[in-house]
This record gives sequence, C-alpha cells and structure tokens, in this order.
Amino acid sequence: MSYTVPKLADFSAAALDSAVRELVSALEQESAAVSSENDWKAFRDRWIARKNGILTQLNDLWLKAAPGPNKRDVGQRVNALKPRVEQAVDATLARIQSGVSSGKLAAERVDITLPGIRRPLGAEHPVIKTMNEMIGVFRNLGYSVEEGPEIETDFYNFEALNFPPNHPARDTQDTLFIAGQESKPLRDRLLLRTHTSPVQIRTMQKMKPPVRVVCPGKVHRNDALDATHSPIFHQIEGLAVDTSITFCDLKGTLDHAMKAMFGSSVKTRFYPSFFPFTEPSADVQISCIFCDGKGMRDGAPCRNCKASGWIELLGCGMVDPNVYGFVDYDPTKVSGFAFGMGVERIAILKYGVDDIQLFFQGDVRFLEQFG
Ligand code: DAH
Repeated sequence: MSYTVPKLADFSAAALDSAVRELVSALEQESAAVSSENDWKAFRDRWIARKNGILTQLNDLWLKAAPGPNKRDVGQRVNALKPRVEQAVDATLARIQSGVSSGKLAAERVDITLPGIRRPLGAEHPVIKTMNEMIGVFRNLGYSVEEGPEIETDFYNFEALNFPPNHPARDTQDTLFIAGQESKPLRDRLLLRTHTSPVQIRTMQKMKPPVRVVCPGKVHRNDALDATHSPIFHQIEGLAVDTSITFCDLKGTLDHAMKAMFGSSVKTRFYPSFFPFTEPSADVQISCIFCDGKGMRDGAPCRNCKASGWIELLGCGMVDPNVYGFVDYDPTKVSGFAFGMGVERIAILKYGVDDIQLFFQGDVRFLEQFG
C-alpha cells in the first residue's frame, strides 16, 4: 500500500486534478487487490475510518491546509471524492460476496446459468424387473413371498425334496459344495442352493396349510457360461398346498400366469416330465411368442422355437407325498402343486435378449434400455 495522502503545496486546478487522479487510481488498485472479507475490512478502514481514514486525512491535509481563495475549489473536489470512495468500498464488498474476482474466489464462483447436475434415475435391472412382474401376477392371485438362504444344507436342497442319496444332481458336476464339510453328516453339509425349491420345505416347516407362496431368489450351478447358461441365475418357485388342490388348479394357474406375462394370446401345453419332489411332473411349454406358435416366421423356420411352435419354460407338478413326510403334513389330508422357473430365461424371451451374460456384465448401455 504505497499510497499516502500528499501534503499539497500547489493548490492550482491542474495540481488538484492530478492529486485527485492519483488518489482515484490508488483507490481502484487497492479495491482490485481485495480478495477476502478480511482484506475488505482493512481496505474499508483505510479509506473511510472516521479516525485517520484517507477521507478524513483529506480534510486535514487538503481542505484545512488550503489558502482561503482555494478552499472552495478544494472543498468541491473533496466532497466529490467522498461518495466515490464510499461507492468503491461498497462495490468491492459486493464483488467478493458474489465471488467475482480473479484468483481463488473465481474458481469457487457459482455460475447460475450453467445447467444443473443431472442425477440419472437408474433403471430396475431386467432380471429384478421380470421377477417383480412375475411376483405381481401371483400376488394378485393371493400368493405371498417367501425367501430362503443361498447357502443351504443338503437336507433342504436335496433330501427333503425326495432326491435319493445317489441322485446325479448331488454330484459335484452340478452342485457347488462348501469345502471342508466332509466330517458332517450328509444332510448337514453346506452347498450353494441349486434351485429355489428348498424354500418350499422351509415354508411348509413354518406354516400349516393352506399355503400359497412364491419364492424368488438366486441359485448357483457349476455350469460353464455360454449364451444360455450362467453359474449364477435366478428362479421363482411356487407352492400351493390345501385340502383339495388338483392338477387342474395347477394348469389354470400357470396358464393364467403365462398369459399375464406374455400376452393373452399365448397358449400353454403341459408335457410329461420328472422331478423327484413332484408326482406327476410336467414341463410347461408356451406357444412361441416369436412366430405365434406357427413354427415359421417370414417364410423361414422360426429359430426361437426350432420350428416347433413351442418354447419350454418351466417345471411343475403335484407335490410328491414323500415330501409331506419331511414337513409333518398329512399326505392323506392335503394336496398341492409346485412349479419353478428361471427368471433369466423369461427375461430373455420377453425382451429379446440374445445372451444371458448381458444380465451380469453391468454394461450401462444394455441396462439403461430397461429404464
Ligand atoms: N427346481 C427345479 C429346477 O431347478 C424346477 C422345478 C421343477 C421346481 C418342478 C418345482 C417343480 O417346484 O415342481 O430345475
């Protein structure tokens, strides 16, 4: 701060003008150098403090010192400087408060004309979306949702579901076992559940009939990955047990669910099959949604149904009476049906996805299409 108010010897108009110019230029420079509130306070005090501020000094050093004939001239200039200095002090404060300055504050400045930061809403994952849609269909039929652990015991995953001790599914080929379980009895050994069917058993252990549940969840199999296989995938299990449930109820329920998911023109067909925990068992096929069940599309055999007009979608059956034995239900009094379906498979068909891996790679370009 090099500027000090000079004592004037020459009170001519030209000398006064030059002294005023010097003062104003010092005022502007010092104002520009202010970059914080503390700077500004010092700047304000230096210029307008009643005691010894520059404006006050002007009174003493210029006005009082002026000889009589020059007083009026000096007085006019000093009076004009007052509002000018005060205005500079106010403007400097306004500037630093709005952040407009060179240096640090400029970087912190908020430009309210910039567009806001967009936070994309995100989309439900297609697998979860499909799962929720399917759950919704069954909720509307009065089903509730049950979940179970992904790490299961051999008992829930196999034994209570009537898998005989040497059933091939228990082989390490398909099942991922937790290591170091050999010292335990077979039924207590831990594994990654290979299906959601163990939740049927857990549900029946804790609820008495009537039971109507769907059990969504993640399952694991020792499968090599390709376009249609993944070692992790999702299933939805269904179970209805009551006093007089028949295969007709099963057919009607699944036919309704498939129409709700794929459109009312879809037909279903039940094909004999085998599962240890259901008897009789069936695979459910739906009429091909790509060729409307015709087997031909655009004059060529439909690739999606291998020209058969049908697509296999899920397994089902009447709960095997042996299963009731594991959960203390009386097989002479109750009957029921169960079904299980792969969620990815349904999503693949519904959304025309050609590779199951896309569901697990987390590529935003794929996922955002489901928003
Ligand atoms: N758990 C079977 C699987 O993973 C699917 C299944 C078939 C479930 C028939 C059922 C059923 O409840 O009744 O292949």
